Amino acid sequence: MTTRPYTILVIPGDGIGREVVPAAVAVLRATGLPFVFEEAAAGWECFQHTGTSLPEPTLAAARTADTVLFGAVASPSHPVAGYRSPIVWLRRELDLYANIRPVVEERPGHNIDLVVVRENTEGLYAGRERVEDNGATAIAERVITRHASERIARVAFDLARARHAARAGAAGNTRAAPRVTVVHKANVLRATCGLFRAVALDVARTYPDVTVEEMLVDTCALQLATRPERFDVIVTTNLFGDILSDVACARGGGLGVAPSANIGETHALFEPVHGAAPDIAGRGIANPLAAIGCAALLLEHLAQRTAPEDAAPFRRCAARIHDAIRRIHASGPHTPDLGGNAMTADVTTAILGLLRDPVIVPWSEGKH
Ligand code: NAI
Ligand code: MG
Repeated sequence: MTTRPYTILVIPGDGIGREVVPAAVAVLRATGLPFVFEEAAAGWECFQHTGTSLPEPTLAAARTADTVLFGAVASPSHPVAGYRSPIVWLRRELDLYANIRPVVEERPGHNIDLVVVRENTEGLYAGRERVEDNGATAIAERVITRHASERIARVAFDLARARHAARAGAAGNTRAAPRVTVVHKANVLRATCGLFRAVALDVARTYPDVTVEEMLVDTCALQLATRPERFDVIVTTNLFGDILSDVACARGGGLGVAPSANIGETHALFEPVHGAAPDIAGRGIANPLAAIGCAALLLEHLAQRTAPEDAAPFRRCAARIHDAIRRIHASGPHTPDLGGNAMTADVTTAILGLLRDPVIVPWSEGKH
């Protein structure tokens, strides 16, 4: 292989971030692909030691790395002067405008395979909050722009197309056309959601091969809870996407198995959806499948960024990891969040064993 080594900046963060990120790194190392790992600090403990939750060397390393693998950070429950959420900070500094959260679960009569594409830079998380009337009134401004709405819609439609292409020919594929659901509340938030809706539907017209539907956010929450099988790609604004992706992952095995990608034009960061989980941190029982799913998303991303002739091993390894996760999710070993009594290390060992199993197609060679 001629591919140059890719630098992966590893930021374990706090709590179970430090327990699940090593599992993802072990899986990436096991691929045999050319990676250089660097590690950097961020988070609440880092803030307590250094006075910042995202030290300048961490930010600089994130800018120069090919990708970032992020664990989770704890945040203080009370306001602390000078503390900033490092993940929100990193998303903004690296202009990671697309938050992509896939949810997959296969069980008899229950086949969930959807992705929530969440706008990651504006909306109600634009940071425009203020307090008036001596603290009696609090106001948040919701910022929606044509630029951000258009680029997130393109990500969603491109993704629907790519997923459809990947499904085509797959055994048991029952989905006819790729579909994007544009989620908003334009009947109430006429200006902001109205703009998001109009821009997304404009973009939809340039993808005639992709079916588009629109749905109000509350309806979407109910549908995700009751009929998640009906969705393919969902695209929505920042806060709605944050909440809907948690609803979606509740049906897909919970936080312990939910990975996410944060993608921009030039940078990409991969993180489990879950947080630092202080209630179970330090006990070695955190589910590593979400973080290991991040390793697979990272490989898929590098497959897109690498020269076409070098992309195949990245794709193949990503598919093998997804497959191993599906098997473990279906039949164990399971950590306590999935009803078992396995440790983080047991699940990681089982995944590595499946990846090396020569009976299923060789790991780094062979065709996928
Ligand atoms: P959380 O995701 O940390 O935990 C919620 C519940 O899910 C807990 O009961 C936890 O034990 C369980 N859980 C989460 N991940 C798990 C895993 N891999 N295996 C097994 N069980 C798992 O959310 P919570 O409790 O609201 O927040 C805890 C801390 O994490 C807070 O300080 C919060 O600010 C931070 N947080 C950080 C995020 C990030 O770094 N992106 C995201 C969400 C929360
Ligand atoms: Mg969240």
